[in-house]
Amino acid sequence: METRPLINLLADGAFHSGAELGARLGISRTAVWNHVQAVQKLGIQVDAVRGKGYRIPHGLDLLHVGQLLAGMGPVARAMIRDVDVFDVVDSTNAVAASRLKAGGEGGYACFAECQTAGRGRRGRSWVSPYATSIYFTFVHEFLRGFPAIDGLSLVVGVSVAEALEAAGCRGVGLKWPNDLVAADAKLGGILIEVYGDVGGPCRAVIGVGINVDLSSVDMPPLDQPLIDLLRIGLPRGRRNDLAIALLNGVSLAVRDFERDGLAGFLSRWQRFDCLLGRPVNVFAGGEPIPGSAEGIDQTGGLCVRTEAGVQVFRSGEVSVRGVR
Ligand code: BTN
Repeated sequence: METRPLINLLADGAFHSGAELGARLGISRTAVWNHVQAVQKLGIQVDAVRGKGYRIPHGLDLLHVGQLLAGMGPVARAMIRDVDVFDVVDSTNAVAASRLKAGGEGGYACFAECQTAGRGRRGRSWVSPYATSIYFTFVHEFLRGFPAIDGLSLVVGVSVAEALEAAGCRGVGLKWPNDLVAADAKLGGILIEVYGDVGGPCRAVIGVGINVDLSSVDMPPLDQPLIDLLRIGLPRGRRNDLAIALLNGVSLAVRDFERDGLAGFLSRWQRFDCLLGRPVNVFAGGEPIPGSAEGIDQTGGLCVRTEAGVQVFRSGEVSVRGVR
């Protein structure tokens, strides 16, 4: 059932009678009710009040492709040929990957309002409720090969953190290798998948998920606390502005990284590094390794002072000791 036309009408947060909705959608009142139930199945709260009709409390802040295209700056325009905004997809990274397999090229970006099979790092799933977060994928072709995949995720993290700060968010942090955090809770994450030859021409599918407003969402129990942008200062109704800032910020950062490498991003990372100087456990395969985080090295590895001296980790997970 096509739910988007009804969602568009209810997105303003006002009550609309069944008769009005039926007339505007060209369907019966019974069919309106069926559509309402389908919308509710997407996890969207729809109030049905006798004598008033239906509403989505507080409305929805939907993405509009026209606004995104109009807001793209010169670098984003040079680097991104196509932008899609989907309603419901399995995963924006999966969509981008299928496009590549079907012969598509880099220079592509897409967003979705909802993902039914959002992917997280390390095979985890990424719970992706409707219009409450940003689900963004950017595909870039590295023609001269791909010097450091880990470096790219740091670069993307820096550009996203800077975009969030510029949008009015306070206390944004980056947790190596690619978590976005605030107040020791997870704000978002980055998942990069590479297709082609890492040593030669290859395409990076860069996925970014950011929680915007989870206040009305029943999240399943997760292994760490979550936080969203509205709680750290983003004004309501800014998802389109944020999506534009991501298109511009990430494309600029990827261009600079491809041209100049990681060096220019090291001090920018440090400003957001939420692990710096803190007691951590590093999970890099075997037993957790305790130590004190000392920032990242020239290649983006995490430096940790351990009993055995300073060790540099190129991959793994980190938790701050004493913080869940
Ligand atoms: C993480 O585990 O921290 C990374 C999460 C990445 C989620 C984003 S949402 C947009 C893109 N599409 C996906 O399926 N995953 C990424």
